[in-house]
Amino acid sequence: MKEIQLEFLPRVLLPWYEQNRRDLPWRKDREPYHIWLSEIMLQQTRVEAVKGYYARFLQELPDLASLAVCDDEKLHKLWEGLGYYSRVRNLKKCANVIMEEYAGEFPSDHKTVLSLPGIGPYTAGAICSIAFSKPTPAVDGNVLRVMARLRADDAPIDEPAVKKRVERELAEIYPMENPGAFTQALMELGATVCVPNGAPQCEHCPCREFCAGQENWQTLPVKLPKRSKKQEYRTVFVLRCEDQYAIEKRPEKGLLAGLWQFPNLSGFLELDEAIAWCRRENLRPAGVERMVERSHIFTHIRWDMRCYYLQVGEKSPAYCWKTLKEMDEQAALPTAFRQFREELGNA
Ligand code: ADE
Repeated sequence: MKEIQLEFLPRVLLPWYEQNRRDLPWRKDREPYHIWLSEIMLQQTRVEAVKGYYARFLQELPDLASLAVCDDEKLHKLWEGLGYYSRVRNLKKCANVIMEEYAGEFPSDHKTVLSLPGIGPYTAGAICSIAFSKPTPAVDGNVLRVMARLRADDAPIDEPAVKKRVERELAEIYPMENPGAFTQALMELGATVCVPNGAPQCEHCPCREFCAGQENWQTLPVKLPKRSKKQEYRTVFVLRCEDQYAIEKRPEKGLLAGLWQFPNLSGFLELDEAIAWCRRENLRPAGVERMVERSHIFTHIRWDMRCYYLQVGEKSPAYCWKTLKEMDEQAALPTAFRQFREELGNA
C-alpha cells in the first residue's frame, strides 16, 4: 500500500461533485426519511432499478407514521422484485421504534441511529452525514474500491477489519463543511468514474494526480475468494383452473419469508411424476400447457427450476386461487417465481 495523505480528498472531491453529481430523486431534499429509505433501497441494488420503487413507495407511504402502520402485504408488494426482503421488514420495525421511542422524529445522534433495526455502520453514516450534516463516513463497496485503488491497497475489502480501518481513516479527514456532499461525492466517484466493472475513467477523475491505482486497477480492489453457492433443484407448478391460478404464502421464517409463491417442491420431476403429484393433491390434472426451465440466484443459493404449466379440474383448498389481475394487485411474488408469472402475459 502506498502512503498517501488523504487530506486532499475533500478539497478535490467537493467541487468535482458539485459539477458532476447526477440528478437523483433522493438528492432533492435532506429529509431523513427520504435519505434513509433511499440508502436502504440502494443496498445491493442499482440506481436505475431503485428510482421507480422509491417514487412508488413515497407516493404510498409519504412519512414515517404511514410506514409504521402499513400492512405487511402492501409493504411486500411495494418491495416486490427488489429482493432482500428483510430490508423492508426492518424498515417498518424501525419506523415503529422511531414513532414509539423518539416521538416520531428521526434521531440525529450517530450512536442512536446505529442502534435502530436494519441500520448498520454504512447506513448510519450516510443518514447522519447527508440528512444531519455530521462528519460520519459511509463506507460501501463503491467507497472501498475508490480507497483501495487510490492507495494501491491490496488488503481484501470484504474483511470487516479492512472496512473498519477505512472508516477510521476517512473519519479523520471528513470535512465539517458539507460532510453530506463528501459522502455522496465518494460514492459518486465509485459509481461513475472508478467503476466496478470494466476500466475506470481515469482521464475524468479528479484524483488522478494522487492516485496509485491507475496502472494496476485490474487487480484492485482485492477480494476474498467467493464461497460457492449451494445449488438446489426445484419443480414449480403453475396450476390453472378456469381463469384462476394457485398460489400460496411462504412460511413466516426463512428464505423469502411471508411472500407468495407458486406451489413447488424440491428436485426435478419428470412430466409423469408431475402429473402423479397433481393427482395426489386432488387437483384432477387435465393437460400440460408447457414446461420451462429457469434459474434464480440468491446470496447463498442457486435455484434451478423446472416449471410445469398445468390445467387442472379442481380448486384444491390447499391453495389460494387468483385471477392474474388479483395476483398482480394483491400478492407479492418474488422474482424467482414472478418470472413464471411473466410467461403468462398480461392480465
Ligand atoms: N449508492 C448508495 N447510496 C447512494 C446514493 N445516495 N446515491 C447514489 N448511489 C448510491
